[in-house]
Amino acid sequence: VSDLRGRFSAELDAEMLRFSSSLELDLELADEDIRGSLAHVGMLGTIGVLSAEETSAIVEGLETIRTELASGSWVPDPAHDDIHMAVEARLVELVGGVGGKLHTARSRNDQVATAVRLWLKRRLTELDRALVGLIEVLLDRVETDGRTLMPGYTHLQRGQPVLLGHHLLAHAWAATRDRERIAGALDRADRCPLGAGAMAGTSHPIDRELTADELGFAAVADNAMDAVAARDHLQEAASVCAIVMTGLSRMAAELVLWSSAEFDLVRLGEAHSTGSSIMPQKRNPDGAELVRGKVGRVLGDLQALLVLVKGLPLAYNRDLQEDRAPLIDALAQSESSVKIMTAMWRDLDVRADRFESELHGDMSLATELADLLAERGVPFRTAHEAVAAAVRWCEEQGGNLVLLDGGAAARFHEAFPDDLGPWLDPRAAAERRTSFGGTAWPEVERQVDVLRSNWCRVEPVG
Ligand code: ARG
Repeated sequence: VSDLRGRFSAELDAEMLRFSSSLELDLELADEDIRGSLAHVGMLGTIGVLSAEETSAIVEGLETIRTELASGSWVPDPAHDDIHMAVEARLVELVGGVGGKLHTARSRNDQVATAVRLWLKRRLTELDRALVGLIEVLLDRVETDGRTLMPGYTHLQRGQPVLLGHHLLAHAWAATRDRERIAGALDRADRCPLGAGAMAGTSHPIDRELTADELGFAAVADNAMDAVAARDHLQEAASVCAIVMTGLSRMAAELVLWSSAEFDLVRLGEAHSTGSSIMPQKRNPDGAELVRGKVGRVLGDLQALLVLVKGLPLAYNRDLQEDRAPLIDALAQSESSVKIMTAMWRDLDVRADRFESELHGDMSLATELADLLAERGVPFRTAHEAVAAAVRWCEEQGGNLVLLDGGAAARFHEAFPDDLGPWLDPRAAAERRTSFGGTAWPEVERQVDVLRSNWCRVEPVG
């Protein structure tokens, strides 16, 4: 078995071998590597570079290795540089010298690039599926608990009353855009590098369309040097992961807040709550906190991929082997975070009546009073000032806007009616916001319909 050292008289230093081998991480790509080899050897058979017997011997050998890998009956020897060399060596063990023909018209550069793209397409598609699950659960929640009234916040200060459904939809829309970004990333990853060789193409009469087709790629990568040197599709995938994770982190932060005694809006399911080693009463939101924590890690993965490629002269450089660890980590952490967030949302209880009475006459209805004056022809800026003065007065009295009801509001503006009841009701305030995209229930329902019927709009490639 060749160790590619024919031109050397000395062996590779053992520490150098350990340092340079990527075998362990490569196992993640083993199946994609074999798929790429099967397509390549099939194509070599079709164009007559390999005879039918040679082709079927190699194909059979590769299929055996695939089964062996799946069952664990063959474990690649860490003495190999990477999975690609290990599989080739095993092939020669199984089928003899003819196995050495597999690498005709191929380099490890296009081989690796192909395996990574196949892997990336699979994992991005899986991440997309996970996001569909999250969106589905959010929409289910909107349907079951969406009418729950709560304060809408800016600066984490109470702003205006909203329906929980309105708030959840904001997250669902963000996740939908994540799906669109995945579709874009998939589109650009969907070019087959196989046949690019080391960087110059090959003199063998290969059919790149055939292998691209066989592997399910939308097209062939146009330039052989770009095909082996490009890593922007990895950077793009990690960017998508980073954005997915920042979205999740906002949801996670809210779950932590909302499950606190201070908010007391949701109660996480027991299966997704953790205890304390000292405080027996604890019901901790560790899942949400870990999601929030893992965001830093995935942002780091993106950073690693950006810096890795910066300043690298074309084409292949061994530096590029370092792309796999951050790529694999970013996809793995993102997918598991989406799934745990989905499970937490599915499993929790919402306290539907939590804010119902507390928000009656709450200061967060101040905009409502200003809007009332504006509807009666008062310039909004004047209305704003009148209500601000009224808020101050209520605060001084140690109460809320209810103090203005029954005539007291008149001292701040004569256009106020005596009966402020309809404007001090937080649910009525939310339901009046019927403008497109507003918090009123019919708008919430409309968006649920749009999202439910359109989530296949960005059906990913391959
Ligand atoms: N393990 C290497 C990598 O993944 C394989 C490519 C080696 N190519 C080379 N020209 N040394 O980057």
